[in-house]
Amino acid sequence: DEYDTIIVNGVVVTDTDIADLDIAIKDEKIVKIVPNGGLKDASAKKTIDAEGGYVMPGGVDAHVHLDEPPLFGKGSTADNYETGSRSAVCGGTTTMVTFAPQKKSEDTLLDTLKATHAKAKDACYIDYSFHLLVGNPSERALGEFKTLREEGISSLKIYMTYEALQLHDGQILDVLLEARRQQITTMVHAENGQVIDWMTAQLEKRKMFAPKYHGTSHPPMAEVEATYRAISLSEFIDTPILIVHVSTPAAAAHIKAAQDRGLPIYAETCPQYLFLTKKDLDQPGFEGAKCVCSPPPRESEADCDAIWDGIANGTFTILSSDHCPFKYDDAVQGKKTSISDEHPVGHFKYIPNGCPGIETRLALTLGEGRLDLKKFVEVTSSNPAKLYGLWPRKGALVEGQSDADINIWYPPGQMQPYELKNAMLHHNVDYTPYEGRTMKQWPRYTLLRGEVVWDKENGGLLGKKGYGKFVRRDGSSLAGPRNKGEWEIPL
Ligand code: URP
Ligand code: ZN
Ligand code: ZN
Ligand code: ZN
Repeated sequence: DEYDTIIVNGVVVTDTDIADLDIAIKDEKIVKIVPNGGLKDASAKKTIDAEGGYVMPGGVDAHVHLDEPPLFGKGSTADNYETGSRSAVCGGTTTMVTFAPQKKSEDTLLDTLKATHAKAKDACYIDYSFHLLVGNPSERALGEFKTLREEGISSLKIYMTYEALQLHDGQILDVLLEARRQQITTMVHAENGQVIDWMTAQLEKRKMFAPKYHGTSHPPMAEVEATYRAISLSEFIDTPILIVHVSTPAAAAHIKAAQDRGLPIYAETCPQYLFLTKKDLDQPGFEGAKCVCSPPPRESEADCDAIWDGIANGTFTILSSDHCPFKYDDAVQGKKTSISDEHPVGHFKYIPNGCPGIETRLALTLGEGRLDLKKFVEVTSSNPAKLYGLWPRKGALVEGQSDADINIWYPPGQMQPYELKNAMLHHNVDYTPYEGRTMKQWPRYTLLRGEVVWDKENGGLLGKKGYGKFVRRDGSSLAGPRNKGEWEIPL
């Protein structure tokens, strides 16, 4: 046969175009794209009829926590590389970038990288890479950035909060300067840790411990201030940053203003800031713990609307899940580690921070129908691939260059709206924050490097553990430092 697989009668959507096109796949790659009907004389081992459904590049989720020790509260993550990547592929995500967490007590990043490779190897259903989470920017760790690039790692994450991870501004400058030299993109968790600690102490004095006070302890101001500070530090060193999981419209406004000045400031948001609010935290008993993440879901629908607007107007470069899975009903590893005799409805400061969402990210967002289709592909697939050095191998449908990572959706209007239930999902978590929501879409087929790894109507998960490969990454293909050459201390 001429081809391994052809996809016919689809409406192909990329970040730049929508057109009625057929796609031919051979040896894991997209080899030909022609107008519908153009492959009718071609021979292929397998033909998939998209029946007018949208055909898009597979999802790229660039913010995923798997197999991490306690860092954000008392528990450790419920998904490992196997269960997390299984959940991903069942929701149409074909590439993930997870975190390789270096602890404050560790001196080197290369050991962290090696240990994380060992966790992922032969365990993944989808392709993967890692961001190095820098908990201790020691001389030695900074000296290893160059080697990280040689190992195919072109991004780092740093924290401005969490006792176990928080860097002070001098350390942040150290990281940004070395990141600039090595053409690394630095992701920043922008919340002011001291403000959060102070608010936590105020709440404790008043014996306010319920899950909803997690929200109170993380005021928008803490995010706004840290976002502006991160932008300032980035501008000073002249190096690109990505502000992760932005939840607050006023923080988005600082980001937009920086972008309008031409600075390489990128931003991420997540479904929890589009779909959840304070109401979800303010539930009877311990229930609200399910939606404890940082930053927390904000005040009202108006905040969510502003975040949707930020996607539409380009403030947000990418939409990631921040899948950070903890079981709810689990007193050893999960959310209930925060419950004690002293705190029968838990103490918010011990609730592990994070929500599961790697499987629901694409369908929830697309099904909502609020985003332009090209914009949807841009923020969920193409831009994460560009920002993190995977494009056009990932996040694109380019003849001869792109891996055949493809989602085929149900033709518009063909799927009966249904209620989402956690039992439908494939993670190792006992809840979803989106339980009971009306869903209008789900990937019908997902292909990874030419293999059908998800077929909703015939067998569901068809992919195999271990088929997912580590992908070496280049530097970002989005704009970098504004000034070329070496950075000099302005004396
Ligand atoms: O609450 C969250 N987001 N947990 C994950 C840790 C992080 O900061 O991304
Ligand atoms: Zn974070
Ligand atoms: Zn995260
Ligand atoms: Zn299933």
